Amino acid sequence: MTFQAPKGTFDWLPPRSERVLAVREALVQPVRQAGYGYIETPTFEDTELFKRGVGESTDVVTKEMYTFLDKGGRSITLRPEGTAPVVRAVLQHGLHNGQLPVKLWYSGSQFRYERAQKGRYRHFWQVGAEALGAEDPALDAELILLAWQGYQSLGLRRVELLINSLGDRECRPAYRGTLQEFLRGLDLDEETRRRIEINPLRVLDDKRPEVQAQLGDAPLMVDHLCEACKAYHEEVRSLLAAAGVPYTDEPRLVRGLDYYTRTTFEFVHGGLGSQSAVGGGGRYDGLSELIGGPSLPSVGWALGVDRTLLAMEAEGLLDDTGEGRVAVYGVPLGEEARRRMFLLMAELRRAGVSADMAFGGKGLKGAMKGADRSGARFALILGERDLAARAVQLKDLTTAEQTEVPLAQVVEIVKGKLS
Ligand code: HAM
Repeated sequence: MTFQAPKGTFDWLPPRSERVLAVREALVQPVRQAGYGYIETPTFEDTELFKRGVGESTDVVTKEMYTFLDKGGRSITLRPEGTAPVVRAVLQHGLHNGQLPVKLWYSGSQFRYERAQKGRYRHFWQVGAEALGAEDPALDAELILLAWQGYQSLGLRRVELLINSLGDRECRPAYRGTLQEFLRGLDLDEETRRRIEINPLRVLDDKRPEVQAQLGDAPLMVDHLCEACKAYHEEVRSLLAAAGVPYTDEPRLVRGLDYYTRTTFEFVHGGLGSQSAVGGGGRYDGLSELIGGPSLPSVGWALGVDRTLLAMEAEGLLDDTGEGRVAVYGVPLGEEARRRMFLLMAELRRAGVSADMAFGGKGLKGAMKGADRSGARFALILGERDLAARAVQLKDLTTAEQTEVPLAQVVEIVKGKLS
């Protein structure tokens, strides 16, 4: 019997796996440049953290969490998202008692028991950034701009930014009531009716056509914002415009996690089908209090690495560049040659040249096949006669031209040819 990766999960394998690393790196680069520091939190947390932080009425908490009792009888949950853990860590270590905002970034896998399909996995990777302890539209705009720059640096041209404001504790309750009143008058199924009472904003996000058809006249949060929220939202939008970040107002944008207030946004990509969000985030001014901390108005986002790769694929940005795995490939012929080649490889790598060699005692033909497959520019062929002459055959694999060079100088020669 052989095993398969669990449903909804997959393995990243070379050479594609290298692109994953590069994508993470590119998404993180702008954030680092803006003074965000790296944070790593555990892969699992106390279940209660997510229940309170993400919200009891969300799909994430009610249906999608990987929760289990550990051997000490504690309820543990594999993290479905990174924001609640980051806030937990900031509070635990008192980072909010220092300079504000506390700016942090992270990169890690998340776990959600979702219906698996293309772009929607049970184990997926996010890069995230959070700025805690400041209420300033420039901070919201900064974060959005940094994500935008990350996508741009990857060459993505079809990422679209949708933004909205979800109001705050001043204006949201009244809007919520108005919306509930409207929704109660519609023809909806039982489950959706229940949702009206628990989390009416999520109904706006219902994708079913029969529901959408009835929502044409639904009251929208943007029309019910208090003066402070309105001014805040205007300022975020105007800063984005000033920074040249194109955006679309999406008054029906409701995010799947309960902690959002004011600014919310999503980055969507047209080439992904139904799972179009490559990233998303917003302000969460009340989250710290929800998990027992002081008031700590904050904003952040998480970008989906897996979906960003799918988006790049859709834009033809992952087509093989033909770049090799290593620059040099060693072909030792015989025992003695293998020993010498082993050391030569180490010398090359020390000199900054990537190098691999044939292992497993392959003959010339098999080893040369390995050289071709490696994508190396040069093969170094070392036989008994070469050893006696203290030389090695340097073969340019693009031209098939072969020259003999002294073993003592080969590192320098190869380095010169590669530069
Ligand atoms: P989220 O919208 O749930 O937000 O997830 C952010 C991104 O993670 C999504 O836009 C998507 O690209 C990716 N993602 C989510 N679920 C899956 C999945 N099942 N499979 C593949 N990719 C997925 C959050 O997680 C918030 N913590 C973001 C945030 C940070 N808000 C404030 N700070």
